Amino acid sequence: MSSSSTPNPNSRPDLDDTINVTTAHNSASMTAAAARENRNPGSNKEPLSIATFAVCAVIFIICGSVIGNASGGFFSYNTTIKPEYVRGKAPGVADDVALPPKPILNVYVKKGQSLYSAKCNGCHGADGKGDGANYPSLVGSSWSTGHTERFAQVILNGLQGPTSTGKVYGAGVMPAQGGGMSAQDLAFIMTFIRNSFGNSVGDVVSPEMAQAAIDIAAKRSNPAAPVTAEELKAHEKDLTGEKMDPTTLVDPITFKPVGAKK
Ligand code: HEC
Repeated sequence: MSSSSTPNPNSRPDLDDTINVTTAHNSASMTAAAARENRNPGSNKEPLSIATFAVCAVIFIICGSVIGNASGGFFSYNTTIKPEYVRGKAPGVADDVALPPKPILNVYVKKGQSLYSAKCNGCHGADGKGDGANYPSLVGSSWSTGHTERFAQVILNGLQGPTSTGKVYGAGVMPAQGGGMSAQDLAFIMTFIRNSFGNSVGDVVSPEMAQAAIDIAAKRSNPAAPVTAEELKAHEKDLTGEKMDPTTLVDPITFKPVGAKK
């Protein structure tokens, strides 16, 4: 048989079908066209499996959220926006009006509520009533509604019972809450508690008063220890500093009295 993979081009057409085309093609190592191409250099590596991509994606998401949330935060609002930042009017926009002013008492109570939720809620409860056994109620508590200096020292330094009612609560000691608390935040929290849950002192603790409290706490001889009822006797006073009329209208963003210069 003359069956060959390279038929003589000069021969006549293979009318007798002596060449099996399929076999001839299979036996050729590659087609002529493919043989002319350069080899794909490739990387000699296996392609990555989809599972590897999925695992990497999960790791990236977790790492990203950890870094993004890291205390202080690489991308946190506070590191990019200065505390005293006040949004200026948009240039060329005549009717870019500020938010309507509100009474300072309402603004402080609202700000204090969110700080309370973050700092005190877990122990003293969303309704401020504590649980009667481990955590005392702040509703009607004479230390919360009485002298501002005494109230502030409890918050800033924590408290070793007995409490205002003479009772010692199961949790034993309240941890200090002053760490990282600004005067403004302390003013918000105190104003909130004095005017919420049924407490209605009606006053505003100003940031200046709160700063006075922070200064007093800083001068304690044993700053790491919680205050005791005994120590609090020295603080049966009201904090010095600017008193604010609770009806003063303030900008709800800057907390500055409306019309006041910065
Ligand atoms: C980890 C739990 C815990 C947290 C958080 C906490 N407290 Fe307390 N607080 C206590 C305990 C416990 C007592 C009572 C201490 C004792 O009996 O020894 C107390 C007592 C008090 C008292 C005294 C009440 C009275 O009438 O004698 C005040 C006021 C108070 N806390 C305010 C606050 C404020 C404001 C915050 C948030 C900034 C706060 N506490 C956060 C546990 C806590």
